[in-house]
Amino acid sequence: MDQDIVPGIPNGWFAVAWSSDIGPGEVRRIYYFGEEMVLFRTRTGQARVLSAYCAHLGAHLAEGGRVVGETIRCPFHAWQYEGESGDCVKIPYCDRIPAKAQVRAWEVCERNGMIFAWHHAEEQGPDWEVPEIPQLSDPEWAEPRTFEIEVPIHMQDMAENNLDPVHFEVVHSSMGIPDTEIEFGEDGRFMHAVSYSEQETPLGTFKMELLRDSWCIGMSSVESRGIPGAGLYMFSSTSPIDRHRTISRWAMTATKNMVDTAGEEWFDGITGGLSDDVRIWANKIHRPNPVFCEADKLLGEFRRWVRQFYSTPAN
Ligand code: FES
Ligand SMILES: [Fe+2]
Repeated sequence: MDQDIVPGIPNGWFAVAWSSDIGPGEVRRIYYFGEEMVLFRTRTGQARVLSAYCAHLGAHLAEGGRVVGETIRCPFHAWQYEGESGDCVKIPYCDRIPAKAQVRAWEVCERNGMIFAWHHAEEQGPDWEVPEIPQLSDPEWAEPRTFEIEVPIHMQDMAENNLDPVHFEVVHSSMGIPDTEIEFGEDGRFMHAVSYSEQETPLGTFKMELLRDSWCIGMSSVESRGIPGAGLYMFSSTSPIDRHRTISRWAMTATKNMVDTAGEEWFDGITGGLSDDVRIWANKIHRPNPVFCEADKLLGEFRRWVRQFYSTPAN
């Protein structure tokens, strides 16, 4: 049945928390990629993600587990797991540690105010890095405003919006269908799209460029250029909770010279427009083989591009 033909979990870096969600010594229960996990921050400040269930008798490490130095201690019999490797490094009542005393450790990267975990269906390691976004820490740019939303949809269907110019006119009542050009990085993974439009802003009417970069399905940026001496920027990470639920986190910023005027309106515009999308997203089905018309060229490009992010699960 159509309803069940949703794609698997794609490969890539996906945000599993905001950096500010967790301080040193704190533990959080999280659920991503259809898996129970524990997120904790070690005493030296490293964010770590482990599979949740203890190798011993299967206690959930986030339900009463405690950070001890660079490890997390199981709430049941106090076995301690090192955060980077997932190896059990201490059993307080036994000198010999069994070779299999280990839980899966997820590769973690903390950047741009977010904590990312690497997911790969075949459990291969990362082959690219999360980009450092200069606008999010530049003193010329305002402190980022953050926003998050959970939607009952496969993340690919949410990301598809990005290369769906027609929906901007129909769903978001924007004027006309913007001309969009796309190009790809050498490896075919990185995608850059730009649309041109004329926009009214509180500072006047300008010929604007809307630039969208995508590093994988679910990691993208939107930049609005065209107002002289000013900039608007959004970075987002959209993560699969499982195959049917998605959470998207956005960090938005504007140059300080315009944040109080056009900036706030721009932020409200992007977050506000989302409620129109959500009704469509939350009720649509996934079409693995959609019927496209001649003008749906970009949607076709998107479907070709996303294929590279899927592989067959290891087991
Ligand atoms: S279940 Fe974790 S130490 Fe026993
Ligand atoms: Fe949209």
